[in-house]
Amino acid sequence: MSTLSLFDDLPSQVAKEIADLRKQLQYHNYRYYALDDPQITDAEYDRLMQRLRELEAQYPESVTPDSPTQRVGATPLSTFQTVVHEMPMLSLDNAFSDGDLLAFNQRVQDRLKSAEDIEYVCELKLDGIAVSLLYRDGLLVRGATRGDGTNGEDITQNVRTINSIPLRLLGSGYPAVLEVRGEIYMPKAGFNALNEKARMAGEKLFVNPRNAAAGSLRQLDSRITASRPLEMCAYSVGWVDGGELPETHSGILAALKNWGFLTNRETRVAKNIQEALGFYRRIGEKRDALAYDIDGIVFKVNSRLLQDTLGFISRAPRWAIAYKFPAQEESTILLDVEFQVGRTGAVTPVARLQPVFVGGVTVSNATLHNRDEINRLGIKIGDTVIVRRAGDVIPQIVQVVESKRPVDARDILFPEHCPVCNSPVETVADEAVARCSGGLVCAAQRKEAIKHFASRKAMNVEGLGDKLVEQLVDLGLVNNLADIYSLTREQLSAMERMGDKSADNILAALENSKKTTLAKFIYALGIREVGESTARNFANYFGSFEAMAAADQEVLQRVPDVGPVVAHFVAEFFEQESNRVAVSALRAAGIHWDNIEVASPDALPLNGLTYVLTGTLEALSRDDAKAHLLALGAKVAGSVSAKTDYVVAGPGAGSKLAKAEELGLKVMDEAGLLELLREHGRQI
Ligand code: IVH
Repeated sequence: MSTLSLFDDLPSQVAKEIADLRKQLQYHNYRYYALDDPQITDAEYDRLMQRLRELEAQYPESVTPDSPTQRVGATPLSTFQTVVHEMPMLSLDNAFSDGDLLAFNQRVQDRLKSAEDIEYVCELKLDGIAVSLLYRDGLLVRGATRGDGTNGEDITQNVRTINSIPLRLLGSGYPAVLEVRGEIYMPKAGFNALNEKARMAGEKLFVNPRNAAAGSLRQLDSRITASRPLEMCAYSVGWVDGGELPETHSGILAALKNWGFLTNRETRVAKNIQEALGFYRRIGEKRDALAYDIDGIVFKVNSRLLQDTLGFISRAPRWAIAYKFPAQEESTILLDVEFQVGRTGAVTPVARLQPVFVGGVTVSNATLHNRDEINRLGIKIGDTVIVRRAGDVIPQIVQVVESKRPVDARDILFPEHCPVCNSPVETVADEAVARCSGGLVCAAQRKEAIKHFASRKAMNVEGLGDKLVEQLVDLGLVNNLADIYSLTREQLSAMERMGDKSADNILAALENSKKTTLAKFIYALGIREVGESTARNFANYFGSFEAMAAADQEVLQRVPDVGPVVAHFVAEFFEQESNRVAVSALRAAGIHWDNIEVASPDALPLNGLTYVLTGTLEALSRDDAKAHLLALGAKVAGSVSAKTDYVVAGPGAGSKLAKAEELGLKVMDEAGLLELLREHGRQI
């Protein structure tokens, strides 16, 4: 191996250890990123990497460009150099219907003067950025964008940061010069997380994963690229010299996989065009469930001999075609904005759009989330906008086409009063959401509260759907939750599209719903931030409704997964007289459940002990440390007094520690706290 010569000056056992670590890291990197089948834990991987870093720091002369430590990003560039592709990077012809695809197959057969079935490799058309990676003697020497197909940009520094790109090829048998082509893309999860972070920071969002991938690759500072969740999937080869490749495209993909590349796991060989069509349909059905965006299927003639016979036309091969899926982004016009009031009073702007076919359905509404989103988009009524609908996700407006703004475009005015009940709309500082302050006075909030109460995962009143609830509230027949249990057959059967039979069914469903569980009842109340699983935690912790209603915020926080925010909303709920009345009325209407046996809080290990946290904690945040202590039954106080049992003091602890010492209290450091928490089974 050529890299070994660099080790000449190193003590031989160090050189051996370094080489060995690199080999292991390379292999495990491949298992993790290319095969998605790791053989060691992340912690073990980190330890190997840490050891290699130490040795390389100690022996800087040992560092090679293909060392796994060299992915973190390099000195920023001032500009990208131009790369002239040795072989042009082509594009693909498109098919938009089964007919187009069959016609393509016919053209292939005609050109080959054959009526025999053609074997196709079926690949996903990944929606990212095409790249070319050049390897010489197995070493990555250049990464480039496609550019215009002839001239691209040198993005070597950036591609080196992508873990699924081997810095050195694995195995053997690769040509001396090997140009690998493929797509760099950002998986949906990484994209969502990146945008969520940007949203929190009030920064501009990326429109879609493709733009995010492009933006990440276009960084002159490769450390930024290194921080972005990018992947690269290899799908073909370009320039090859000094070696032979398999005779089929599927063989080439298998070789690329063995040499360390991520190749797409959905790829299949179809015996003929009918099988290829079946593949298109199957993937179409699971498109939304894939971890990354695709915009079609690429079909490639498998035999390279046939590929050569078919050749190219203008800028696309005659042996391949991309059969596109319905677009997930389209442009349309924002006709108006309406404001909807939700269960918790949140006032949400909803865009009314000129209907547009996108992501396989016709979309005429899209949420605009909140005021910040309107400002961020800089959107006006009358604007041409880009609507994106990916999978089951609600349609989003991702961009405004400012160049198409009409002269009479209007600003969107956020209402100061609730459009339903006219109560003032309030915005809490630090919260993006504006809320109607009307509470249950507001018919919209009442409707939503009742819909939620009756919904399947709550009280499960079958037949009491959204439309019916809206009518009942509008007619004044239902004003609060318990009212639904006083509805009569006459009242119900007089509603739109209802007969005696449906009315009877609803009455029976109401009766059935009265026997429920504590968890479902808590969830049904619609307390802010209390979803199904939190409600279950409350039920299991307290066992009875009375115990939960009586708990103060500190006790509430002992419940698993309950932090200060949830505890605040729950306490606030029970403080309100109207809520207590509503609960009594529901129980008077006959709602019941079996209480759950729970261990008494006295049995918690730190019951009766008071802790004070001071100074800086490193392994845990203060909030987390507090949550763990509360969960074990301890009290956590803000100041030191004679009632304090323990003071946990981190570095920088000041007056509280001094006072503790003065009072002769027991003091522990963070390590002591961690030990205590672990002893009582807390996972840290
Ligand atoms: S093959 C000569 N295979 O689609 C063949 N392209 O216009 C050239 N793409 O920008 C491309 N997934 O980046 C091929 N499995 C795949 C692909 C794929 C995505 C992109 C490619 C190019 C565009 C084709």
